[in-house]
Amino acid sequence: MDKFVINGGKALSGTVHISGAKNAAVAILPAVLLANEPCTIENLPEISDVATLLRAIKQLGAEVRSINKSTVEIDPTPINSFVIDKKMAEGMRASSYFLGALLGRCNRARVAPPGGCDFGVRPIDQHIKGFEALGAKVIIENGMVDARAAALRGCSVYLDVVSVGATINIMLAAVKARGLTVIENAAREPHIVDLANFLNSMGANIMGAGTNVIKIRGVECLHGTTYSIIPDQIEAGTYMVAAAATGGDVLIENVIPKHLESIIAKLVEAGAEITEYDEAVRVKMTGRPKKCNVKTMPHPGFPTDMQPQIATLLAIADGTSIVTEGVWDNRFRYVEQLIGMGAKIQVDGKMAVITGVEKLTPAPVKAVDLRAGAAMIIAGLMAEGITEVENTIYIDRGYENVAEKFQKLGAEIKRVPVLSKEANLKNA
Ligand code: EPU
Repeated sequence: MDKFVINGGKALSGTVHISGAKNAAVAILPAVLLANEPCTIENLPEISDVATLLRAIKQLGAEVRSINKSTVEIDPTPINSFVIDKKMAEGMRASSYFLGALLGRCNRARVAPPGGCDFGVRPIDQHIKGFEALGAKVIIENGMVDARAAALRGCSVYLDVVSVGATINIMLAAVKARGLTVIENAAREPHIVDLANFLNSMGANIMGAGTNVIKIRGVECLHGTTYSIIPDQIEAGTYMVAAAATGGDVLIENVIPKHLESIIAKLVEAGAEITEYDEAVRVKMTGRPKKCNVKTMPHPGFPTDMQPQIATLLAIADGTSIVTEGVWDNRFRYVEQLIGMGAKIQVDGKMAVITGVEKLTPAPVKAVDLRAGAAMIIAGLMAEGITEVENTIYIDRGYENVAEKFQKLGAEIKRVPVLSKEANLKNA
Protein backbone atom coordinates (compact mmCIF):
# COMPACT_ATOMS: atom_id res chain seq x y z
CA MET A 1 0.00 0.00 0.00
CA ASP A 2 1.37 3.44 -0.91
CA LYS A 3 0.88 6.94 0.46
CA PHE A 4 1.11 10.35 -1.14
CA VAL A 5 3.52 12.79 0.44
CA ILE A 6 2.59 16.36 -0.41
CA ASN A 7 4.52 19.53 0.30
CA GLY A 8 1.59 21.93 0.03
CA GLY A 9 0.97 25.63 0.02
CA LYS A 10 1.72 26.40 -3.63
CA ALA A 11 -0.75 27.69 -6.20
CA LEU A 12 -1.31 25.23 -9.06
CA SER A 13 -0.67 26.46 -12.58
CA GLY A 14 -0.46 24.98 -16.06
CA THR A 15 -2.51 22.54 -18.08
CA VAL A 16 -4.00 19.17 -17.12
CA HIS A 17 -5.40 16.62 -19.55
CA ILE A 18 -8.52 14.78 -18.43
CA SER A 19 -8.82 11.01 -18.99
CA GLY A 20 -11.82 8.93 -20.00
CA ALA A 21 -14.72 8.74 -17.58
CA LYS A 22 -14.51 5.99 -14.96
CA ASN A 23 -18.23 5.65 -14.51
CA ALA A 24 -18.82 5.40 -18.26
CA ALA A 25 -15.98 2.88 -18.67
CA VAL A 26 -17.26 0.59 -15.93
CA ALA A 27 -20.65 0.40 -17.69
CA ILE A 28 -19.37 0.18 -21.27
CA LEU A 29 -16.89 -2.65 -20.61
CA PRO A 30 -19.57 -5.09 -19.33
CA ALA A 31 -21.84 -3.88 -22.17
CA VAL A 32 -19.32 -5.31 -24.66
CA LEU A 33 -20.53 -8.75 -23.53
CA LEU A 34 -23.75 -8.11 -25.46
CA ALA A 35 -22.01 -7.94 -28.85
CA ASN A 36 -21.59 -10.85 -31.22
CA GLU A 37 -18.40 -9.38 -32.69
CA PRO A 38 -15.23 -7.78 -31.28
CA CYS A 39 -15.44 -4.18 -30.02
CA THR A 40 -12.66 -1.63 -29.66
CA ILE A 41 -12.92 0.76 -26.73
CA GLU A 42 -10.83 3.92 -26.80
CA ASN A 43 -10.06 6.58 -24.19
CA LEU A 44 -10.23 4.09 -21.32
CA PRO A 45 -8.80 5.59 -18.13
CA GLU A 46 -5.77 3.75 -16.74
CA ILE A 47 -7.26 3.08 -13.30
CA SER A 48 -7.55 0.00 -11.14
CA ASP A 49 -11.35 -0.34 -11.55
CA VAL A 50 -10.86 -0.74 -15.31
CA ALA A 51 -8.03 -3.25 -14.82
CA THR A 52 -10.23 -5.31 -12.46
CA LEU A 53 -13.15 -5.31 -14.88
CA LEU A 54 -10.93 -6.39 -17.77
CA ARG A 55 -9.62 -9.27 -15.66
CA ALA A 56 -13.17 -10.39 -14.91
CA ILE A 57 -14.15 -10.14 -18.60
CA LYS A 58 -11.14 -12.32 -19.48
CA GLN A 59 -12.09 -14.85 -16.84
CA LEU A 60 -15.55 -15.12 -18.38
CA GLY A 61 -13.77 -16.37 -21.51
CA ALA A 62 -13.56 -13.20 -23.63
CA GLU A 63 -10.37 -12.33 -25.50
CA VAL A 64 -8.95 -9.00 -24.37
CA ARG A 65 -6.17 -7.39 -26.40
CA SER A 66 -4.51 -4.20 -25.30
CA ILE A 67 -3.86 -1.95 -28.32
CA ASN A 68 -2.27 0.89 -26.35
CA LYS A 69 -2.56 2.29 -22.82
CA SER A 70 -6.08 3.62 -23.36
CA THR A 71 -7.45 1.28 -26.05
CA VAL A 72 -8.51 -2.36 -25.80
CA GLU A 73 -10.09 -4.75 -28.22
CA ILE A 74 -12.48 -7.23 -26.66
CA ASP A 75 -13.86 -10.26 -28.44
CA PRO A 76 -16.80 -11.50 -26.35
CA THR A 77 -17.72 -14.40 -28.68
CA PRO A 78 -15.78 -17.09 -26.76
CA ILE A 79 -17.52 -16.26 -23.44
CA ASN A 80 -18.57 -19.51 -21.81
CA SER A 81 -19.64 -18.51 -18.30
CA PHE A 82 -22.33 -16.44 -16.62
CA VAL A 83 -20.73 -16.43 -13.19
CA ILE A 84 -18.83 -13.64 -11.48
CA ASP A 85 -17.91 -15.24 -8.19
CA LYS A 86 -16.89 -13.54 -4.94
CA LYS A 87 -13.18 -13.85 -5.67
CA MET A 88 -13.58 -12.31 -9.13
CA ALA A 89 -15.81 -9.54 -7.81
CA GLU A 90 -13.39 -8.77 -4.98
CA GLY A 91 -12.35 -5.15 -5.23
CA MET A 92 -14.60 -4.71 -8.25
CA ARG A 93 -17.04 -1.91 -7.65
CA ALA A 94 -19.12 -2.23 -10.79
CA SER A 95 -19.72 -5.98 -10.60
CA SER A 96 -23.48 -5.39 -10.59
CA TYR A 97 -23.36 -4.39 -14.27
CA PHE A 98 -22.46 -7.98 -15.12
CA LEU A 99 -25.97 -8.91 -13.94
CA GLY A 100 -27.65 -6.82 -16.65
CA ALA A 101 -25.02 -7.61 -19.30
CA LEU A 102 -25.00 -11.39 -18.75
CA LEU A 103 -28.77 -11.53 -18.42
CA GLY A 104 -29.03 -9.65 -21.71
CA ARG A 105 -26.46 -11.92 -23.34
CA CYS A 106 -27.53 -15.37 -22.16
CA ASN A 107 -30.70 -14.92 -20.03
CA ARG A 108 -28.71 -16.01 -16.98
CA ALA A 109 -26.36 -14.30 -14.55
CA ARG A 110 -24.88 -15.31 -11.22
CA VAL A 111 -22.92 -12.48 -9.67
CA ALA A 112 -21.50 -11.77 -6.24
CA PRO A 113 -23.16 -8.63 -4.82
CA PRO A 114 -21.40 -5.37 -5.59
CA GLY A 115 -19.11 -3.72 -3.06
CA GLY A 116 -18.36 -0.04 -3.48
CA CYS A 117 -17.28 2.88 -1.35
CA ASP A 118 -18.88 2.85 2.07
CA PHE A 119 -21.49 5.63 2.08
CA GLY A 120 -24.03 3.63 4.11
CA VAL A 121 -26.29 0.99 2.58
CA ARG A 122 -25.98 0.46 -1.17
CA PRO A 123 -29.13 -1.46 -2.11
CA ILE A 124 -29.85 -2.97 -5.55
CA ASP A 125 -33.61 -3.37 -5.11
CA GLN A 126 -34.34 -1.11 -8.10
CA HIS A 127 -32.03 -3.15 -10.33
CA ILE A 128 -33.89 -6.29 -9.29
CA LYS A 129 -37.26 -4.62 -9.78
CA GLY A 130 -36.23 -3.86 -13.37
CA PHE A 131 -34.96 -7.39 -14.09
CA GLU A 132 -38.18 -8.87 -12.69
CA ALA A 133 -40.31 -6.51 -14.78
CA LEU A 134 -38.38 -7.80 -17.82
CA GLY A 135 -39.44 -11.35 -16.87
CA ALA A 136 -36.40 -12.58 -14.95
CA LYS A 137 -36.55 -14.51 -11.70
CA VAL A 138 -34.04 -13.15 -9.23
CA ILE A 139 -32.96 -14.89 -6.06
CA ILE A 140 -30.18 -14.18 -3.62
CA GLU A 141 -28.62 -17.33 -2.22
CA ASN A 142 -25.25 -18.29 -0.79
CA GLY A 143 -24.07 -14.73 -1.11
CA MET A 144 -24.76 -14.61 -4.86
CA VAL A 145 -27.41 -12.80 -6.90
CA ASP A 146 -28.89 -15.27 -9.37
CA ALA A 147 -31.03 -13.99 -12.23
CA ARG A 148 -32.54 -16.14 -14.95
CA ALA A 149 -35.22 -15.82 -17.59
CA ALA A 150 -36.72 -18.05 -20.26
CA ALA A 151 -36.89 -14.92 -22.41
CA LEU A 152 -36.74 -11.22 -21.56
CA ARG A 153 -39.68 -9.10 -22.67
CA GLY A 154 -39.98 -5.33 -22.93
CA CYS A 155 -41.77 -3.69 -20.00
CA SER A 156 -42.44 -0.40 -18.25
CA VAL A 157 -40.49 0.23 -15.09
CA TYR A 158 -40.71 3.25 -12.81
CA LEU A 159 -37.67 3.74 -10.58
CA ASP A 160 -38.65 4.66 -7.02
CA VAL A 161 -35.32 6.45 -6.61
CA VAL A 162 -33.21 8.00 -9.35
CA SER A 163 -30.47 5.40 -9.61
CA VAL A 164 -27.51 5.47 -12.00
CA GLY A 165 -26.78 1.78 -11.46
CA ALA A 166 -30.39 0.60 -11.89
CA THR A 167 -30.85 2.72 -15.04
CA ILE A 168 -27.68 1.23 -16.55
CA ASN A 169 -28.47 -2.34 -15.54
CA ILE A 170 -32.00 -2.20 -16.93
CA MET A 171 -30.69 -0.73 -20.21
CA LEU A 172 -28.18 -3.60 -20.46
CA ALA A 173 -30.80 -6.27 -19.81
CA ALA A 174 -33.44 -4.67 -22.05
CA VAL A 175 -31.39 -3.86 -25.12
CA LYS A 176 -31.96 -7.32 -26.66
CA ALA A 177 -35.31 -8.08 -24.97
CA ARG A 178 -38.33 -8.54 -27.21
CA GLY A 179 -40.42 -5.36 -27.58
CA LEU A 180 -40.31 -1.93 -25.98
CA THR A 181 -38.93 -1.16 -22.51
CA VAL A 182 -39.63 2.21 -20.92
CA ILE A 183 -37.60 3.34 -17.89
CA GLU A 184 -39.34 6.18 -16.07
CA ASN A 185 -37.61 8.38 -13.50
CA ALA A 186 -34.33 7.32 -15.09
CA ALA A 187 -30.98 8.82 -14.09
CA ARG A 188 -29.61 11.44 -16.53
CA GLU A 189 -25.86 11.40 -15.84
CA PRO A 190 -23.47 11.91 -18.79
CA HIS A 191 -22.27 8.29 -18.45
CA ILE A 192 -25.82 7.05 -19.07
CA VAL A 193 -25.90 8.96 -22.34
CA ASP A 194 -22.45 7.58 -23.17
CA LEU A 195 -23.60 4.00 -22.56
CA ALA A 196 -26.68 4.58 -24.75
CA ASN A 197 -24.49 6.04 -27.52
CA PHE A 198 -22.17 3.05 -27.26
CA LEU A 199 -25.04 0.54 -27.44
CA ASN A 200 -26.64 2.45 -30.34
CA SER A 201 -23.32 2.34 -32.19
CA MET A 202 -23.62 -1.48 -31.92
CA GLY A 203 -27.09 -1.40 -33.49
CA ALA A 204 -29.27 -0.91 -30.39
CA ASN A 205 -32.37 1.29 -30.48
CA ILE A 206 -32.29 3.49 -27.37
CA MET A 207 -34.03 6.87 -27.24
CA GLY A 208 -34.27 9.50 -24.54
CA ALA A 209 -31.00 8.86 -22.66
CA GLY A 210 -30.19 12.08 -20.82
CA THR A 211 -33.89 12.66 -20.03
CA ASN A 212 -35.86 10.94 -17.28
CA VAL A 213 -37.70 8.65 -19.72
CA ILE A 214 -35.57 6.18 -21.65
CA LYS A 215 -37.17 4.01 -24.35
CA ILE A 216 -35.42 0.88 -25.51
CA ARG A 217 -36.73 -1.08 -28.47
CA GLY A 218 -35.14 -4.52 -28.28
CA VAL A 219 -33.03 -5.71 -31.22
CA GLU A 220 -32.06 -9.29 -32.19
CA CYS A 221 -28.30 -8.81 -32.04
CA LEU A 222 -25.60 -6.22 -31.53
CA HIS A 223 -22.59 -5.97 -33.82
CA GLY A 224 -19.03 -4.86 -33.08
CA THR A 225 -18.04 -1.20 -32.88
CA THR A 226 -15.19 1.17 -32.15
CA TYR A 227 -16.10 3.69 -29.49
CA SER A 228 -14.32 6.43 -27.56
CA ILE A 229 -15.38 7.06 -23.96
CA ILE A 230 -16.32 10.61 -22.87
CA PRO A 231 -13.96 12.63 -20.63
CA ASP A 232 -14.37 12.22 -16.88
CA GLN A 233 -16.62 14.91 -15.43
CA ILE A 234 -15.53 14.19 -11.86
CA GLU A 235 -11.80 14.03 -12.58
CA ALA A 236 -12.18 17.40 -14.35
CA GLY A 237 -14.16 18.82 -11.42
CA THR A 238 -11.51 17.60 -8.98
CA TYR A 239 -8.74 19.49 -10.81
CA MET A 240 -11.01 22.55 -11.10
CA VAL A 241 -11.57 22.59 -7.34
CA ALA A 242 -7.86 21.95 -6.68
CA ALA A 243 -6.97 24.95 -8.88
CA ALA A 244 -9.42 27.21 -7.01
CA ALA A 245 -8.52 25.88 -3.57
CA THR A 246 -4.80 26.63 -4.05
CA GLY A 247 -5.42 30.09 -5.52
CA GLY A 248 -4.16 28.78 -8.84
CA ASP A 249 -4.67 29.26 -12.56
CA VAL A 250 -5.20 26.01 -14.45
CA LEU A 251 -6.42 25.04 -17.91
CA ILE A 252 -8.33 21.77 -17.72
CA GLU A 253 -8.42 20.29 -21.21
CA ASN A 254 -10.26 17.44 -22.89
CA VAL A 255 -13.55 18.13 -21.11
CA ILE A 256 -17.17 18.64 -22.17
CA PRO A 257 -17.98 21.99 -20.48
CA LYS A 258 -21.73 21.21 -20.59
CA HIS A 259 -21.10 18.31 -18.16
CA LEU A 260 -19.42 20.71 -15.74
CA GLU A 261 -22.21 23.32 -15.47
CA SER A 262 -23.14 22.71 -11.84
CA ILE A 263 -19.48 22.60 -10.77
CA ILE A 264 -18.73 25.81 -12.69
CA ALA A 265 -21.76 27.51 -11.11
CA LYS A 266 -20.59 26.72 -7.57
CA LEU A 267 -16.98 27.66 -8.22
CA VAL A 268 -18.09 31.01 -9.64
CA GLU A 269 -20.22 31.53 -6.52
CA ALA A 270 -17.10 30.76 -4.46
CA GLY A 271 -15.26 33.54 -6.30
CA ALA A 272 -13.38 31.70 -9.06
CA GLU A 273 -13.01 33.17 -12.53
CA ILE A 274 -13.92 30.56 -15.12
CA THR A 275 -13.42 30.72 -18.88
CA GLU A 276 -15.11 28.10 -21.02
CA TYR A 277 -13.66 26.92 -24.32
CA ASP A 278 -14.96 24.27 -26.72
CA GLU A 279 -13.15 21.42 -25.00
CA ALA A 280 -11.46 23.06 -22.02
CA VAL A 281 -12.13 25.26 -19.00
CA ARG A 282 -9.74 27.63 -17.27
CA VAL A 283 -10.09 28.12 -13.51
CA LYS A 284 -8.42 31.06 -11.84
CA MET A 285 -8.82 32.10 -8.22
CA THR A 286 -7.42 35.15 -6.50
CA GLY A 287 -7.95 35.75 -2.81
CA ARG A 288 -9.87 33.70 -0.31
CA PRO A 289 -12.88 31.65 -1.53
CA LYS A 290 -16.32 33.00 -0.66
CA LYS A 291 -18.76 30.93 1.36
CA CYS A 292 -21.51 29.15 -0.53
CA ASN A 293 -24.10 26.47 0.06
CA VAL A 294 -24.05 23.24 -1.92
CA LYS A 295 -26.65 20.49 -2.16
CA THR A 296 -25.79 17.32 -4.04
CA MET A 297 -28.43 15.84 -6.32
CA PRO A 298 -28.70 13.49 -9.29
CA HIS A 299 -27.61 15.06 -12.60
CA PRO A 300 -27.98 17.88 -13.60
CA GLY A 301 -27.67 18.77 -9.91
CA PHE A 302 -24.31 19.16 -8.18
CA PRO A 303 -22.67 15.68 -8.23
CA THR A 304 -22.31 13.82 -4.95
CA ASP A 305 -18.94 12.61 -6.26
CA MET A 306 -17.70 16.22 -6.00
CA GLN A 307 -19.00 16.78 -2.47
CA PRO A 308 -15.83 16.03 -0.45
CA GLN A 309 -13.69 18.13 -2.83
CA ILE A 310 -15.92 21.24 -2.72
CA ALA A 311 -16.32 20.92 1.06
CA THR A 312 -12.53 20.95 1.35
CA LEU A 313 -12.35 24.20 -0.63
CA LEU A 314 -15.10 25.71 1.53
CA ALA A 315 -13.10 24.82 4.66
CA ILE A 316 -11.02 27.97 3.97
CA ALA A 317 -13.88 30.16 2.69
CA ASP A 318 -14.65 33.53 4.16
CA GLY A 319 -17.81 32.71 6.14
CA THR A 320 -20.00 29.72 6.90
CA SER A 321 -21.15 27.31 4.19
CA ILE A 322 -23.68 24.51 4.36
CA VAL A 323 -23.13 21.35 2.35
CA THR A 324 -26.09 18.99 2.13
CA GLU A 325 -25.70 15.45 0.82
CA GLY A 326 -28.78 14.59 -1.21
CA VAL A 327 -27.80 11.18 -2.60
CA TRP A 328 -26.00 9.01 -0.04
CA ASP A 329 -26.82 8.40 3.64
CA ASN A 330 -23.30 8.66 4.95
CA ARG A 331 -20.81 10.55 2.84
CA PHE A 332 -19.13 12.72 5.47
CA ARG A 333 -16.73 10.14 6.93
CA TYR A 334 -13.77 12.18 5.61
CA VAL A 335 -14.70 15.23 7.70
CA GLU A 336 -12.80 13.87 10.69
CA GLN A 337 -9.61 13.93 8.59
CA LEU A 338 -10.18 17.57 7.59
CA ILE A 339 -10.84 18.51 11.21
CA GLY A 340 -7.41 17.02 11.97
CA MET A 341 -6.04 19.59 9.51
CA GLY A 342 -7.67 22.48 11.33
CA ALA A 343 -11.03 22.67 9.50
CA LYS A 344 -14.12 23.67 11.50
CA ILE A 345 -16.91 21.40 10.35
CA GLN A 346 -19.96 20.10 12.16
CA VAL A 347 -21.89 17.25 10.65
CA ASP A 348 -25.53 16.71 11.47
CA GLY A 349 -26.92 13.76 9.52
CA LYS A 350 -26.79 14.64 5.84
CA MET A 351 -25.66 18.22 6.44
CA ALA A 352 -22.24 19.70 7.17
CA VAL A 353 -21.85 23.21 8.53
CA ILE A 354 -18.45 24.51 7.49
CA THR A 355 -17.07 27.57 9.25
CA GLY A 356 -14.24 28.78 7.08
CA VAL A 357 -10.78 29.03 8.65
CA GLU A 358 -7.89 31.10 7.26
CA LYS A 359 -5.85 28.04 6.32
CA LEU A 360 -5.52 24.29 6.75
CA THR A 361 -2.48 22.88 8.50
CA PRO A 362 -0.63 19.74 7.39
CA ALA A 363 -1.30 16.41 9.09
CA PRO A 364 -1.18 12.68 8.37
CA VAL A 365 -4.58 11.77 6.87
CA LYS A 366 -6.09 8.86 5.05
CA ALA A 367 -8.40 8.36 2.11
CA VAL A 368 -11.59 6.81 3.48
CA ASP A 369 -12.96 6.33 -0.05
CA LEU A 370 -12.20 7.38 -3.63
CA ARG A 371 -13.51 10.96 -3.71
CA ALA A 372 -12.64 11.53 -0.07
CA GLY A 373 -9.10 10.56 -1.05
CA ALA A 374 -9.10 13.16 -3.82
CA ALA A 375 -10.30 15.70 -1.27
CA MET A 376 -7.39 14.79 1.03
CA ILE A 377 -4.93 15.44 -1.81
CA ILE A 378 -6.55 18.85 -2.35
CA ALA A 379 -6.33 19.56 1.39
CA GLY A 380 -2.66 18.57 1.33
CA LEU A 381 -2.01 20.91 -1.59
CA MET A 382 -3.74 23.74 0.31
CA ALA A 383 -1.86 23.31 3.60
CA GLU A 384 1.65 24.73 3.79
CA GLY A 385 4.06 21.93 4.75
CA ILE A 386 4.06 18.15 4.56
CA THR A 387 0.79 16.21 4.47
CA GLU A 388 0.76 12.46 4.04
CA VAL A 389 -2.29 10.79 2.52
CA GLU A 390 -2.57 7.08 3.22
CA ASN A 391 -4.72 4.46 1.45
CA THR A 392 -3.85 5.49 -2.12
CA ILE A 393 -5.52 2.27 -3.22
CA TYR A 394 -8.90 4.04 -3.09
CA ILE A 395 -7.65 6.97 -5.15
CA ASP A 396 -6.07 4.66 -7.76
CA ARG A 397 -9.51 3.18 -8.42
CA GLY A 398 -10.64 6.35 -10.15
CA TYR A 399 -7.79 8.79 -10.89
CA GLU A 400 -5.24 8.10 -13.62
CA ASN A 401 -1.66 9.11 -12.75
CA VAL A 402 -2.88 11.53 -10.13
CA ALA A 403 0.54 12.37 -8.67
CA GLU A 404 2.06 12.94 -12.14
CA LYS A 405 -0.85 15.15 -13.23
CA PHE A 406 -0.55 17.33 -10.11
CA GLN A 407 3.25 17.46 -10.50
CA LYS A 408 2.74 18.87 -14.01
CA LEU A 409 0.75 21.67 -12.36
CA GLY A 410 3.70 22.50 -10.14
CA ALA A 411 2.61 20.54 -7.07
CA GLU A 412 5.14 18.77 -4.89
CA ILE A 413 3.53 15.38 -4.50
CA LYS A 414 5.09 11.96 -4.63
CA ARG A 415 3.96 8.39 -4.15
CA VAL A 416 5.88 6.56 -1.47
CA PRO A 417 5.51 2.85 -0.66
CA VAL A 418 4.38 2.14 2.88
CA LEU A 419 6.29 -0.85 4.14
CA SER A 420 4.39 -3.40 6.18
CA LYS A 421 5.39 -3.85 9.84
CA GLU A 422 7.18 -7.12 8.89
CA ALA A 423 9.15 -5.37 6.12
CA ASN A 424 10.04 -2.55 8.49
CA LEU A 425 11.38 -5.09 11.00
CA LYS A 426 13.42 -6.80 8.26
CA ASN A 427 14.88 -3.48 7.16
CA ALA A 428 15.65 -2.44 10.74
N1 EPU B 1 -30.56 3.23 -4.45
C1 EPU B 1 -31.61 2.48 -3.96
N2 EPU B 1 -31.89 1.30 -4.60
C2 EPU B 1 -31.19 0.84 -5.68
C3 EPU B 1 -30.13 1.64 -6.16
C4 EPU B 1 -29.83 2.82 -5.52
O1 EPU B 1 -32.27 2.84 -3.01
O2 EPU B 1 -31.53 -0.23 -6.20
C5 EPU B 1 -30.25 4.52 -3.80
C6 EPU B 1 -28.85 4.54 -3.20
O3 EPU B 1 -28.85 4.04 -1.88
C7 EPU B 1 -28.51 6.01 -3.27
C8 EPU B 1 -29.23 6.50 -4.54
O4 EPU B 1 -30.22 5.52 -4.82
O5 EPU B 1 -29.05 6.68 -2.17
C9 EPU B 1 -28.35 6.67 -5.77
O6 EPU B 1 -27.62 5.49 -6.02
P1 EPU B 1 -27.13 5.09 -7.49
O7 EPU B 1 -27.72 3.77 -7.82
O8 EPU B 1 -27.39 6.22 -8.41
O9 EPU B 1 -25.58 4.92 -7.29
P2 EPU B 1 -24.61 3.84 -7.93
O10 EPU B 1 -25.07 3.49 -9.29
O11 EPU B 1 -24.34 2.76 -6.97
C10 EPU B 1 -23.10 5.59 -9.15
C11 EPU B 1 -21.66 5.94 -9.18
C12 EPU B 1 -21.25 6.58 -7.87
C13 EPU B 1 -22.10 7.81 -7.63
C14 EPU B 1 -23.60 7.47 -7.73
C15 EPU B 1 -24.49 8.68 -7.66
C16 EPU B 1 -20.76 4.25 -10.66
C17 EPU B 1 -19.93 3.03 -10.80
N3 EPU B 1 -20.89 4.71 -9.41
O12 EPU B 1 -23.27 4.68 -8.07
O13 EPU B 1 -19.90 6.98 -8.05
O14 EPU B 1 -21.85 8.34 -6.35
O15 EPU B 1 -23.86 6.79 -8.96
O16 EPU B 1 -24.19 9.57 -8.68
O17 EPU B 1 -21.27 4.81 -11.62
C18 EPU B 1 -17.69 7.44 -7.47
O18 EPU B 1 -17.42 7.50 -8.68
O19 EPU B 1 -16.91 7.84 -6.57
C19 EPU B 1 -18.99 6.89 -7.06
C20 EPU B 1 -19.22 6.43 -5.86
